[in-house]
Amino acid sequence: FEVKWDVESAEKGGYEHFMLKEIHEQPNAIKDTLRGRIVNDNEIVLDKVNITKDEIDKIDKIFIVACGTAYHAGVVGKYVIEKFARIPVEVDIASEFRYREPIINEKTLTIVVSQSGETADTIAALKEAKRNGSRVIAITNVVGSSISREADDVIYTWAGPEIAVASTKAYTTQLVALYLIALDLALKKGTIDKEYAKAICDELKQLPDKAKHILDYKDELQEFASNHFNSKDVFYLGRGLDYAVAMEGSLKLKEISYIHSEAYAAGELKHGTLALIEDGTLVIALATQEHLFEKMLSNIREVTTRGGYVLAFAMEGNNQLEGIVEKVLYIPKTMEEVAPIITVIPLQLLAYYMAVEKGCDVDKPRNLAKSVTVE
Ligand code: AGP
Repeated sequence: FEVKWDVESAEKGGYEHFMLKEIHEQPNAIKDTLRGRIVNDNEIVLDKVNITKDEIDKIDKIFIVACGTAYHAGVVGKYVIEKFARIPVEVDIASEFRYREPIINEKTLTIVVSQSGETADTIAALKEAKRNGSRVIAITNVVGSSISREADDVIYTWAGPEIAVASTKAYTTQLVALYLIALDLALKKGTIDKEYAKAICDELKQLPDKAKHILDYKDELQEFASNHFNSKDVFYLGRGLDYAVAMEGSLKLKEISYIHSEAYAAGELKHGTLALIEDGTLVIALATQEHLFEKMLSNIREVTTRGGYVLAFAMEGNNQLEGIVEKVLYIPKTMEEVAPIITVIPLQLLAYYMAVEKGCDVDKPRNLAKSVTVE
């Protein structure tokens, strides 16, 4: 028999879809995006960002502006920049930002995030920020893209070409870039303990291996998806950084499997959304943030006592959810501040396998384009 090795399967590296290939490329993409940017244990070198300590000291407000998955990366960015650099951060969807006359001046720093660097709304937001005197840093995956040329400074994510419409390795490498910016700002402002900064840097360097390790869950997630791909609604719950990751997990599921889902801040359940939980409702609960675990545990109980079917993700070593939820998967032990970079990976795989089970066109979901270059 003749072995047929068509071009496309070669391009997919033997994976069934580009999305699965790109999910598996994340350990290397994270490593490549970190390369050369952490030196002497805790010094950050951002080659194309030339913002001085004096300029940083003048900044009293940061906007992070993006669309879709890049916006979700910005939500993580807000938490870490505020935690490390103690500068107020507002995250905005570019299509909203550009029309709401945001309050911007020379003391504002704007960070635009865009995998393609060609998203019309994000380019418009960048121009609005510059027109009002803000310095603009771009995080993008495409060298020479419009956004990379319009911005004052650029941090490239070295994820390599992302073909699947659903963004995966761009998201995790955008997070890496945002952590590096947060550390750079904080170290220059002196708002972060140097030993703590070193610990964060050391942990970031461990993440490629931990990302590789978490990919081992794919068989379990494929089996889970085969039992739940007929779900009509899926809820993603989290607190703090887990809430930010829940947003991304929910979008992945919606855009490739066409299953409706929503991400909720777990503390919000009792303010209304708990009314939606009924017997058998599928709930994905993220509980990696140790300092919020007890609160998250009580939110999970609110859901299970109403019949919710819970798949939970907890930090390795914390097995308090065993016997309380239907299934728990464990994130390799890491500092909770950097957990989002790996917590998202099983959510990408879950969405992928749900879509495959439903027979969807995973790499080219209906109605969507890879880069929205028009309004
Ligand atoms: C994410 O999976 C989607 N493909 C979409 O939300 C995307 O993140 C958004 O259109 C922004 O694209 P960009 O990063 O190229 O600007």
